[in-house]
Amino acid sequence: MKKIALTLAAIGLATAAQAQTYPQRPITMIVPFAAGGPTDVIARIVGDHMSRTLGQQIVIENVAGAGGTTGITRAAQAQADGYTIMMGHMGTHGAAPALYPNLKYDPTKDFAPIGLAAGTPIVIVAKKDFPANDLKGFVDYMKTNGEKVNMAHAGVGSVSHMTGIFFNAVVKTKPTMVAYRGTGPALNDLMANTVDYMTDQIVNVAPQIQGGNIKAFAIATAERSPALPNLPTTKEAGLDGFEVSAWNAVFAPKGTSPEIAKKLSDALVKALDDESTRKRLLDLGGVIPSGAERSPEALQKLVESEVARWTPVLKAAGATAE
Ligand code: MLT
Repeated sequence: MKKIALTLAAIGLATAAQAQTYPQRPITMIVPFAAGGPTDVIARIVGDHMSRTLGQQIVIENVAGAGGTTGITRAAQAQADGYTIMMGHMGTHGAAPALYPNLKYDPTKDFAPIGLAAGTPIVIVAKKDFPANDLKGFVDYMKTNGEKVNMAHAGVGSVSHMTGIFFNAVVKTKPTMVAYRGTGPALNDLMANTVDYMTDQIVNVAPQIQGGNIKAFAIATAERSPALPNLPTTKEAGLDGFEVSAWNAVFAPKGTSPEIAKKLSDALVKALDDESTRKRLLDLGGVIPSGAERSPEALQKLVESEVARWTPVLKAAGATAE
């Protein structure tokens, strides 16, 4: 008995020592979509400042596929030693359970929540050649020609997919859905006029809207975005029933020590208080989480409420990955 007690004490001491000196080497942050998309951009912005606080490089690894669930599954199964973390979002940690009956993780149980990184209002965007110049014209066109239109998304369960499904259900249209490994590559095709529209996170599309390279019809939030002050809300533009904003958040695998999780959470909060980091996110239309929204406990509650919220919505829309 004494031997077991001594062993446990030794393990406890070793774990505490590990947390004390953490991090001793670079940290991998898995982004479950292609480089250049909204989740990747947010990960690199906050990761950049977190690296400085932690004194070790946060290395972004893009692991795309299956609406983000491939990368999150990989991250969920990684060693819970603080050296693999991930950027998840409303799709991977909200919609996925409704869409993937055989999902290999439970967003509400299989992670150590670190903190919310950014809110990302959804914007309805289209290629420049699209035959509509405002939301009313777009909706009218979609109601009569939907089956001839291609909607881009980042895989079943991604934010662009779930909000696209939501939009299509409100407008009562059935476009052809074109899957990409992220909305970064999808945006390239939108700018090349080879795909027609998508509902995407503002941090991805804001620069191209400001540059006049794609059309934007409305933002799906109650208030306009300071980053796109001339873009009407869906309500202002005459469309009721389509208001949605996504979010991106940092998670670690379940079993990550509380001391290590706290170091990561504190570094994320410092990033969100850093002026230049805030400016980079705000300029892209990102929404900085308030103090109360930043805790791991708040993120855990958000995940639980989002899984509960999106499951009936997506099942009602008949969406499934399998
Ligand atoms: C991305 O980073 O490509 C997006 O978050 C994908 C999505 O969820 O639409």
